[in-house]
Amino acid sequence: MNIHALLISRFSQALADMGITDAPVPIARSGRPEFGEYQFNGAMALAKQLKQKPRDIAAQVLEHVKLDDIASKLDIAGPGFINIHLADEWLASACQQALQDTRAGVAQQTPQTVVVDYSSPNLAKEMHVGHLRTTIIGDAVVKLLEFLGHKVIRQNHMGDWGTQFGMLLAHLSDKLNKNQVAETALSDLEDFYREAKIRFDEEDGFADRAREYVVRLQSGDQQCAELWHLFIDVSISHSEEVYKKLNVSLTRADIMGESAYNNDLAPVVAELKEKGIVVEDQGAQVAFIPELADKEGNPAVYIVQKSGGGYLYATTDLAAMRYRSGTLNADRTLILTDARQALHFKQTEIVGRKAGFMKAEQTYEHCPFGMMLGSDGKPFKTRSGGTVKLVELLDEAVERAARLLAARDTGLDADELKEVARKVGIGAVKYADLSKNRTTDYVFNWDTMLSFEGNTAPYLQYAYTRIQSLFRKAEVAPTALQANISIEHEQEHALAVQLLQLEEQLNVVARDATPHVLCSYLYDLASHFMSFYEACPILKSDVPAATRASRLALAALVARELKLGLELLGIETLDKM
Ligand code: ARG
Repeated sequence: MNIHALLISRFSQALADMGITDAPVPIARSGRPEFGEYQFNGAMALAKQLKQKPRDIAAQVLEHVKLDDIASKLDIAGPGFINIHLADEWLASACQQALQDTRAGVAQQTPQTVVVDYSSPNLAKEMHVGHLRTTIIGDAVVKLLEFLGHKVIRQNHMGDWGTQFGMLLAHLSDKLNKNQVAETALSDLEDFYREAKIRFDEEDGFADRAREYVVRLQSGDQQCAELWHLFIDVSISHSEEVYKKLNVSLTRADIMGESAYNNDLAPVVAELKEKGIVVEDQGAQVAFIPELADKEGNPAVYIVQKSGGGYLYATTDLAAMRYRSGTLNADRTLILTDARQALHFKQTEIVGRKAGFMKAEQTYEHCPFGMMLGSDGKPFKTRSGGTVKLVELLDEAVERAARLLAARDTGLDADELKEVARKVGIGAVKYADLSKNRTTDYVFNWDTMLSFEGNTAPYLQYAYTRIQSLFRKAEVAPTALQANISIEHEQEHALAVQLLQLEEQLNVVARDATPHVLCSYLYDLASHFMSFYEACPILKSDVPAATRASRLALAALVARELKLGLELLGIETLDKM
C-alpha cells in the first residue's frame, strides 16, 4: 500500500482527462490534520503554464479526479491546494489487507542488482568506532533492499593490502620464529601495529626488511603469501567478533578486499593510458579533472600510479568500479564511508565514467556520513585519548543495559535478563546511530541512547513488548485474530493513516540510503499507538466485543510493523522486558 503513489496515479488520470499529460503531479503530506492527510500542490504551476487562476485550475482538477472510494472530503485551500481527507472505511479496509499480509502490505519493487560496499575496515588495525556507522547503516540498507526484492551483493572492501603490510609481516615473522602462535601475537592488533611501527622507525635494518617483504608479497612469493594469509585470517576473525556482537549480516563470503583487485590494477592503468584519460606527470600516471578545478582554475589531480610504479587506493577503486559495473552488472553501487572521502569518490566516478567503466544508466552512489563525537564535541576517544575499540564499546553497552534493567521491575529471571540486556544494549547503540541523519556528525551519549523515552531503541522495543503483553492479557494470539477493523475514533484514524505510510517511507530509505527515515517512522508509529491506546480502551469490560477485536487488530498491525521495521534496522525485539 502506497497512498502517495495511488494519489499520483489518480491525479495523473484527472489531468490526462483535462488534456494535460506532461505536467508534474506533486502530492505532499499535509502539515495539519484540518488540512486532511495529503495535498495536491500542482495547481499553481499549471496556472502559470495555462495562464489561468490557480483556484480555477484546482476546481477543474476537483471535477475530474476520482477519489470517491478513498477520500471522505476534498477541499480547495489557500492559493489552490487540494486537501485530501482520507475516508475511514477505506483506511479500515486497507489496514485489514495489510494485516492479512506477512509483508504488512509492502509491495516489492522492480528488482535491481545493487552492490553495497560497507564496513570495509583496514585489517592492519583493530576495528574502531569509525567503522561503526558504515557497518550499521550499510547493514540496514542491504536488509531493506533485499526486503524490497532487489538482488543485493554485499562487498566488504577490506583494506588488506599496501606497504604497511611489509612492516607487519616482518614483525610477525620474528614473533613466529620465537615460537609464538599467530593468534597470540595478534591478539591485540593495536599493540602489534604500534610495536611494528616503533621497530620500523628505530631499529637498524628493520625498515629495509619491511620493504623487502612488500616486494616479496607483491611478486607472489609463496612463503610471504602464507604469512600474509595468516595475518589477514586472524584480523578478519577480530572483525567477525564485532559483526557477531552487532548482529550484522556480513560473512566471509562477502569479503572482497583490496587485494582481490591486484591483477586488475595494471590493465586498468593501461586502459586509462590508452584512452588518453591519464598522462605521465613527473613519472606518475595522472588524470587531470577540469570538472573539479580549484578557484584558480587548476584541474584536480588524481594519481592512479606513483612514479615508482606503485598503485594507490584510487587505482583499486577504479578496478572495483569496473568489476562491479562490468562483471557484476550492478544497476547501483552504494559505498558507505565517512564524508572525508567524498572528494575521492567524486573524482573516481568522473575518471571511471570517462573510461567507460560504467554505463550511463548505472549509478555510483557514495553515501557519506558524519563523525561520531564525544560529549565534548570532539571526535569520540577513550578517556586517555586513544581510539575506542568497537568490541569494548559494545560490551559496555550490554553492561550498562543490564544495570538499567536490574533497577526496573521486569519480573525476569537472571538468564532472561542477560538476553534482554544484550538486545537492549546493542539495539541502543545501533539505533542511536541509525536514527540520526547520516550526513551530520553525531554526539555519542550513553544516557540518551539507553533511555526508555524518546526516539530510542529501548522505547521502540518496549512499545513492541507492551503490545505483546496486551495480547497475553486478552488471551488471544495476534495471528488468530478474527476481526473487522473499523475506524471510528480520531486516534484510530490517525493511527491507521500512519500504519499505511510504511511502504512510502521504506521506498525513500531504499532510494537515499537513509535509515533515519525509517526510525522516525517507527517512532511516530509508536507515539500514535500510545495516544490511541490512551484514547481507545481495549481490554476494559465495557468495550463491545467487536470494538475490542477491531482495536486489537490495529494493535497487531502496529506490532507487525514495529517488528518488521526493527528487523530491517538489525534490531531485535522481545516478547518480555
Ligand atoms: N578501508 C577504507 C577505510 O577504512 C574504506 C573502504 C571503502 N570502500 C572503498 N571502495 N574505498 O577508510
